[in-house]
Amino acid sequence: MSSLTGKAIIHKESISLTSECYNTPNTIPLAFCFEPILTLNRNFTLEHHAIDGKDLFVLHGYFSDQEGQNLREFSETTSFSQKIYGSAESTDYGEIPAKMMNGKERWQFFAQPPSAINALFKLFSFLSHKMDAKVLTLPWCLSDQKTSSNCVATNFLTENAPKSAKLGKHQDYNPESGLAFAIPCLYSAEEKSHPNRFANGAEGRPLMITVMVYATAENFHSDYGMGTLFYDREEKEIKIDCRHMQIVFFEGDIWHTIEESRIPQGLESWRVSYVFKLIFNPKKKKPSLRNALYEQLRSH
Ligand SMILES: [Fe+2]
Repeated sequence: MSSLTGKAIIHKESISLTSECYNTPNTIPLAFCFEPILTLNRNFTLEHHAIDGKDLFVLHGYFSDQEGQNLREFSETTSFSQKIYGSAESTDYGEIPAKMMNGKERWQFFAQPPSAINALFKLFSFLSHKMDAKVLTLPWCLSDQKTSSNCVATNFLTENAPKSAKLGKHQDYNPESGLAFAIPCLYSAEEKSHPNRFANGAEGRPLMITVMVYATAENFHSDYGMGTLFYDREEKEIKIDCRHMQIVFFEGDIWHTIEESRIPQGLESWRVSYVFKLIFNPKKKKPSLRNALYEQLRSH
């Protein structure tokens, strides 16, 4: 157990791959599990949206001012030394790429997190206790011959073209169409895994959630865009503004993209998102973890 002020306790676990295509040298089949803690001395206010029955939560006011200042300074001074394009077509129309941490930088960030990120990890640990679920990351890196997907992602942007916003629409994962790795069933008497395909957060099934924290330059304003746009089946859009130290929890099989930028000409500004892709694996069959997560966030 970690103390209230100490570092979140995290241990690593091996993950079994179930799809041969990720059996490549760049794949790292390790996940990181947040040890439960019994108390969390934090308050926040909650905003909830439902998109085709899937949940999206925005947590306001979770971090202290000092944590906010610290993450801003960290974001300004740390290296994001890899370029990232919003889509395969981006290079054709000259998109200015976003920056992200490379593998080594990302590992350093995760192992020695800034104070705000450590406080976020404590929230994962607390939810693990309250929801009676094991909370762990997706595999550290799943890489086939063409693409890589990381459970910890960073995205540092100074602008985002309208075309990038349009072409960048994606799901982070989709358990309904099948996962490339096994999730052990924790309440079963015999050793077995959950089925490869399942409805996210249905009773007795894991809940896959993406958690994102924004940090911005001091001169950044939410009118400057680069928040996240979410879409329902009918393409109706729900916009979550980019605000410094705002936390967003969402089911990562909701289609989403980064909103276009509207930074006034001549002004230099930036925003970064720190993203964690998580699995809440139930220790009991009931209640459904989707209901449990809403209940816990709402009642905190
Ligand atoms: Fe995403």
